[in-house]
Amino acid sequence: MRMYDIIEHKRDGHELTPEELNYFVSRYVDGTIPEYQASALAMAIFLKGMTARETGWLTWEMACSGEMMDLSSLPGIKVDKHSTGGVGDKTTLAVVPIVASCGIPVAKMSGRGLGHTGGTLDKLESIPGMSVSIDRERFLQIVREVGCAVVGQTGNLVPADKKLYALRDVTATVDSIPLIASSIMSKKIAAGCDAIVLDVKCGSGAFMKTADQATKLAEAMVAIGEEVGRTTVALITDMDRPLGNKVGNSLEVMEACQVLQGTAPADISDTCLELAANMLQLAGRGSLAECRELARAQVASGAAFERLCRMVEAQGGDSRVLRDFSRFPQAPCKREVRAPRDGFVFSMQTEQVGIASAALGAGRETIDATIDYTAGIDLARKTGDPVHKGDVLATLYSSNKDRLDDGEHLLLEAYDIQDEQPLPVPHFFARVTAAGVEPLA
Ligand code: URA
Repeated sequence: MRMYDIIEHKRDGHELTPEELNYFVSRYVDGTIPEYQASALAMAIFLKGMTARETGWLTWEMACSGEMMDLSSLPGIKVDKHSTGGVGDKTTLAVVPIVASCGIPVAKMSGRGLGHTGGTLDKLESIPGMSVSIDRERFLQIVREVGCAVVGQTGNLVPADKKLYALRDVTATVDSIPLIASSIMSKKIAAGCDAIVLDVKCGSGAFMKTADQATKLAEAMVAIGEEVGRTTVALITDMDRPLGNKVGNSLEVMEACQVLQGTAPADISDTCLELAANMLQLAGRGSLAECRELARAQVASGAAFERLCRMVEAQGGDSRVLRDFSRFPQAPCKREVRAPRDGFVFSMQTEQVGIASAALGAGRETIDATIDYTAGIDLARKTGDPVHKGDVLATLYSSNKDRLDDGEHLLLEAYDIQDEQPLPVPHFFARVTAAGVEPLA
């Protein structure tokens, strides 16, 4: 077999075989196949696409390219969750303890934020003492004892994705549905789960700007799940406005606690409950309607919140901050951003809200930059809300006074205030399973 022929097959629009994909992935990871040939193949895939089963084969080869987590020592069906990311997305912090409090173990590996999107690990590290760098044995021990843990990646998982993602980033081949789908799903499969719930975001703060694009990506990932024997369900959810009102690391931990205390805004609460219900259903806890009830009951009784506190303590964190937010380190500088005119918030450039939060210190420009955990934005008005000139749109927080001007300028650019009230936008657009697309809007 020759890499030249594999590139030629794909260039001419043929379906690659499992043997060809195994040849490419294994030899690309061990360095035998040079970057220029891998980039030619990535571009051929970008231009010609892949069939559903071909994407499944590629995903499997990528998943097997490094170490794989073995969760067989945990009881029952292990369900993982993945969100394609956005602004204010703190769902993992609430969903994991809800599911764990129903007796379903959740061993979750998460990532860090880069650019305008936040990362779950950074949010968790805003809790004093909290550790997310935990070795595999201890990670599994915490899941056995507490029911859940959220940590950074342990071991050398999916090296093929690390190399391929870096290559795609510099060869204009990121925006390819088979390549995105295989990248995301290979990491989930290597993380050892039996079933997967995906939260595929769409809108101005998401990778996929429209519900149609998001549905196509979801269908590709659900098909991969079928191909590799992992039942996969995807919800298409709104990211045309930030999720919840708080953006920034410790602010988002506080809002996740509010979800578990039943006091958070409806968009974030409903999204967390629906994701948790879908995970519970895949874990065999009953019909979706029964699982929704179960999730709600765990929040109402306080069991889900107590589970988060126990997980934080097991990972070395000070859970007192979760019960009393004034114990969190507080940002020394704050500023209220006010509406420049009367009207309605007609739309929000959600990515720009994330950029504003990063400019305040909540995000990182480069992988090793440090984060200001106290920095962020508390939104008082979002899309659809009426405003009068001078009303507070949002409060900005930062440890650095000089960052407030930039943050204010960027945030004001994110708001489009008009005379007309926009039509309401749903939180959920569709649910995608192997049986098809069920519209929810
Ligand atoms: N997230 C991933 O993990 N991979 C992609 O290709 C895109 C988003």
